[in-house]
Amino acid sequence: MCGIVGAIARRNVAKILLEGLSRLEYRGYDSSGMAINSDNGVHAHRAVGKVQALKNKCEDAPLEGHIGIAHTRWATHGKPTEVNAHPHFSGDDLAIVHNGIIENHAFLRRELIEKGYEFKSQTDTEVIVHLIFDEVKAGKNLLEAVQATLVRLEGAFALAVTYNDDNERFIAARKGSPLVVGVGIEENFVASDQLALLHVTDQFIFLEEGDVADVSRDQVLIYDDKGELQDRPISVFNHHLDSTDKGDFRHYMLKEIYEQPKVIAACLDGRVSETSILTNCFGADSDFLKEVENIHIVACGTSYHAGMVAKYWIEDLAGLPCAVEVASEYRYRKVAVPKNTLFLTLSQSGETADTLAALKMAKGLGYLTTLAICNVPSSSLVRESALTLLTNAGVEIGVASTKAFTTQLTALLVTSVAIAVQHGLSAARETELVRSLRSLPAYIDMALKQDSAIKMLADRFANKQNAIFLGRGSMFPIALEGALKLKEISYIHAEAYPAGELKHGPLALVDEDMPIITVVPNNSLLDKLKSNLQEVSARGGELYVFADLDTEFHEEVGVTFTEVPKVPDILAPIVHTIPLQLLAYYVAVVKGTDVDQPRNLAKSVTVE
Ligand code: G6P
Repeated sequence: MCGIVGAIARRNVAKILLEGLSRLEYRGYDSSGMAINSDNGVHAHRAVGKVQALKNKCEDAPLEGHIGIAHTRWATHGKPTEVNAHPHFSGDDLAIVHNGIIENHAFLRRELIEKGYEFKSQTDTEVIVHLIFDEVKAGKNLLEAVQATLVRLEGAFALAVTYNDDNERFIAARKGSPLVVGVGIEENFVASDQLALLHVTDQFIFLEEGDVADVSRDQVLIYDDKGELQDRPISVFNHHLDSTDKGDFRHYMLKEIYEQPKVIAACLDGRVSETSILTNCFGADSDFLKEVENIHIVACGTSYHAGMVAKYWIEDLAGLPCAVEVASEYRYRKVAVPKNTLFLTLSQSGETADTLAALKMAKGLGYLTTLAICNVPSSSLVRESALTLLTNAGVEIGVASTKAFTTQLTALLVTSVAIAVQHGLSAARETELVRSLRSLPAYIDMALKQDSAIKMLADRFANKQNAIFLGRGSMFPIALEGALKLKEISYIHAEAYPAGELKHGPLALVDEDMPIITVVPNNSLLDKLKSNLQEVSARGGELYVFADLDTEFHEEVGVTFTEVPKVPDILAPIVHTIPLQLLAYYVAVVKGTDVDQPRNLAKSVTVE
């Protein structure tokens, strides 16, 4: 979380930095700031709120110079006030922007206070800039001072440092948080994400763990954590693959919901033939499909919900045990790893701190191999996993994940079938499943047709304080995802339960003010679920049922019915996700919340 940008150029860098911050706003948006060096000192602005507040300040009092750094914040240490906004300074000339958490900051702060340093903010960041200044005072150049400081820091970080006594360079470094160098012609940049720099370059160097970059106008020197100079490859961004334009849509979230048929097709491309799974999509070494005897799936947030659906598929189709766990729990416990277990991570960004830490830990636990299902090819997760299956969803900007989730599910179904084929699934069943997969984009298109019907429901939720989502079987994780979407963007408290659990507690909450949203599978669980819903109706609960017509649900007193297309059972969790995304979206619109950037959240969670 937090986004950082740095630039050195012959032209004024202020506009470049501000544009970069706007593009990084998805990483945090509670305050922002920018510092620019010039012959008459360092000039800076900081503002509480969105980047627009900083832009307003820059319009009133423009900053100008050829070297600068900027930051958009998601508060960890200290409230989102102007004083806590970055950049932070030591003396008048040394400035820093930082993303991440310094875990030993309290100890370092005490040491610096004893040395006479004064702290202006409550942030952990301020210790870094004072430590660097201390090294500079002791005679080190900026690069050496940063290197000497980094070895003292515990935690995760990406940072950029400028020093007005040395305007030929700025220094950037990463450990645990993402940072990319943008290479231009007689100008160079860094940012938390390449998206932030697409207006100035399409050439990028992805820094590795522990790298320190000495960025000047004409060159970028990269040192590894041992101080050895490294030659890191430059990759060229393909503009055709990603569009960050909102088009005619009012919000990115709606645009991304509507992109799902297209991106699911892109996710299937090269992964399935007419009749079978193309196992070379996992890379040259697909032997793991045969050797695997167990699967551990680890992820966070929406990605975790995708993993929960996959458990049903893997155990059903391949008959292999599958455990799913949130990364923040997995990484801090002793895990028993049975022989031949696949470690599978799921992540939209590939930069989620807990998921990366879990992967790092898993690498020492004797797993068969590691597979990442991820949306960002250049991400740390992809680089650090043995095998990768990219979801090809394109850039997702809305903080509430939509297309990233359904493409993860698509990739997980491909993976489940590929494993199952090696564990006794018949060729006929494989063909049937592959045909279902191939028709998925069309089914999603059909589900989107309920847009206006769902929009009409939204008004009825606007004044609700709470909602319960119900599902059974593989629809339970979809109920969880529906509840997560609603709470993330409409701020309505929402919980999800397996419908059979209702009578063990949540039924006590049911009254005429409690909407109960149910995603209905049309399979052997249908009758069980109908009985659960009777329990709700009998207590005056207001039911919102999403089901296909064959389930014989219909509109009646206390029941609002929304049709979902009838699809092969295996696809039902993916297709039923669509109406729940639309419901959350339209409720948020009615409530007037900030749909794409909901309060307190960030898209990419690069801190623990
Ligand atoms: C944040 C985002 C969620 C996302 C989660 C995991 O909380 O707001 O939308 O599901 O991180 O992110 P990942 O990139 O690992 O899927």
